[in-house]
Amino acid sequence: MGLSRNLAPALSAFLALLASSHPALSASPPEVASCLACHGAQGEGMAAAGYPRLAGLSAEYITGQLNAYIDGRRVNAVMRPMAMPLTATQIQGIATFFSSLPAPAQPSTPLTDATQNALGQQLAEHGDWNAGIPACFNCHAPGGVGLPPAFPPIVGQPATYSESQIQAWKNGTRQGAPQNLANALMHSVALRMNDTQTKAVSAWLAAQPTSAPQTSPTAAAKTKP
Ligand code: HEC
Ligand code: HEC
Repeated sequence: MGLSRNLAPALSAFLALLASSHPALSASPPEVASCLACHGAQGEGMAAAGYPRLAGLSAEYITGQLNAYIDGRRVNAVMRPMAMPLTATQIQGIATFFSSLPAPAQPSTPLTDATQNALGQQLAEHGDWNAGIPACFNCHAPGGVGLPPAFPPIVGQPATYSESQIQAWKNGTRQGAPQNLANALMHSVALRMNDTQTKAVSAWLAAQPTSAPQTSPTAAAKTKP
């Protein structure tokens, strides 16, 4: 009893120190603090600025993208200096942290432009066979919620962000290592998309809920033996 009474003030002082050095997220690795200004306090992203959400992306995917910024397979003047100083161990800690955060909840909101809404939904769910564009959901899972580790979620990302990524694959500023089949996949999809389609599907995806649909065919299939 006496011992715990003596320890209690020391413990609470220690906890206060911890809390003051990392007010929002005491369990996060220290490098994460510099990321939150742009990627949101909960990794939810910043739609107005076009900064992507990191919450709920797979650790493998985040690690892969940070390394791509470092070795120039993904060209971006903002992210390169952020990624460059990180060690492999720090990257691993950061990736684990953001992947453990829940995807921000958001309701489905139809776009005000009905034509754009219909085109975006059509591409996401069915693709465009005349143009050779497969349904986005074929790879990014029903609802676009992603299929870890290789297929990132594409719903709940800022429309301007998704648009810029599709353009980046087209003009070669985003690419994977030659042996990375995953990046070749998205490159071939992007090459077939025109600007109207890119804008529509990016806007539609940005407005979709980030949680899996209750009756997704994939989920149903998985529960069957
Ligand atoms: C000044 C704002 C800013 C800061 C600070 C910042 N980022 Fe970013 N981040 C961006 C932008 C802008 C993009 C999109 C870049 C692009 O188009 O490739 C991005 C993209 C990313 C991506 C790719 C996401 C995806 O879905 O592919 C990852 C991963 C990432 N950032 C991690 C981090 C980490 C980790 C830190 C902290 C060490 C950090 N960022 C700090 C602005 C920022
Ligand atoms: C054949 C499989 C495949 C199809 C079909 C596909 N994608 Fe992708 N997509 C991928 C892969 C793999 C990645 C991750 C690439 C990487 O690791 O950099 C990706 C990444 C993305 C990203 C980047 C996400 C981020 O956080 O940076 C966007 C945006 C995207 N896809 C949009 C689309 C859209 C829109 C469609 C439908 C028109 C589509 N994808 C169809 C395989 C596919």
